[in-house]
Amino acid sequence: MYKQIGILTGGGDAPGLNAVIRAVVRTAIGEFGMTCIGIEDSFEGILGDTHTVKLTTKTVSGILPRGGTILGTRNRGSFVKIVNGTPVYPAMPIGEAIANLDILGIEALIVLGGEGTLGIAEQFHKRGFPVIGVPKTIDNDLAATEFTFGFMTAIDIATEALDRLHTTAASHDRVMILEVMGRNAGWIALHAGLAGSADIILIPEIPYSFDAIARKVQARENLGSRFTNIVVAEGAVELGKSEVYQDTGTQRLGGVGDYIRRRVEEMTGKEARTVVLGHLQRGGSPNAFDRMLGTNFGACAVRALASGETGRMVALQAGEVVTVPLDEACTSIKRVPVDGQLVRTARDIGISFAAPKESKLAEAVGIDPRFIHSTSPPNRPKL
Ligand code: F6P
Repeated sequence: MYKQIGILTGGGDAPGLNAVIRAVVRTAIGEFGMTCIGIEDSFEGILGDTHTVKLTTKTVSGILPRGGTILGTRNRGSFVKIVNGTPVYPAMPIGEAIANLDILGIEALIVLGGEGTLGIAEQFHKRGFPVIGVPKTIDNDLAATEFTFGFMTAIDIATEALDRLHTTAASHDRVMILEVMGRNAGWIALHAGLAGSADIILIPEIPYSFDAIARKVQARENLGSRFTNIVVAEGAVELGKSEVYQDTGTQRLGGVGDYIRRRVEEMTGKEARTVVLGHLQRGGSPNAFDRMLGTNFGACAVRALASGETGRMVALQAGEVVTVPLDEACTSIKRVPVDGQLVRTARDIGISFAAPKESKLAEAVGIDPRFIHSTSPPNRPKL
């Protein structure tokens, strides 16, 4: 049994990180009699002059509803370089970090992060240092887990934004465009679009066409709805084009909402406005689901370490927390299935994805012709 474990948070923050930290500390101390060291500023905190803090049940008291991470998060790129799209892990910093962990008396690590951070965590495991990962991203695009904490809070915020845009769109007969996060996958746009009654949802998985957007706006107009609400994931792409970047150098996405606004105004003659939700989706208090999931992930991560597991990540599968190999967690991205149930439900209720092939009928009443004839496998009705 480990006497002392470390915990760190890496990558972008997500509501629920503090819930995980609190559960890790309470479980490690209360259930297993370990001591717990918080490593500040991600893996950077165990390089050079190390930055750590002893975590006690007192230091984590009151942090459950708090947004962000009490440990801070940084990525200065010391541990991983991207070469031709592939992560390369230089040997030096990991060697130094493991030596520092030894000096600090930290025998095992719990690492909270997305694919980038968990990829680094796996390198520690490969060098024999015990590590358990906890998946984190508001984008919910890690393949091995059904949900990541932070995602449900982000949906709540995006849904509230859509509700608010609805009334102003209707009052002014405008097209309102809400740009939400989602680099590789459109989960936030899809879920919030359904919950917030968007008319058009644009996601990276289904390239859109401006003709289809304009036809949907016109179809709504013909049916007497003189406003249209669009939710677009930051990584959505126009058919045949690439993503819209606010800064191509850093590959920072942003601006797709405004790109769409300009063309929609030109094509439909209607006034349009764009709102970029940005980091409002990541800041602030986690909702009840994310507090609960974060707490369960944290406690299960300590139990996994205590039972001798390493090189694994906690994951939610069929409603239960299990562990999966870290490499499985880091290598595959979970994208929205374009013929999946939620996309079909959205289309059934009249939401357009502005795919070029959506027919006039589908644009008006939401029936995608591809689904008129059932694609369900025999003997298994697909709901
Ligand atoms: O957590 C992933 C994410 O939310 C992406 O959707 C987005 O592109 C990115 O974080 C932005 O993060 P930052 O501004 O911290 O670089």
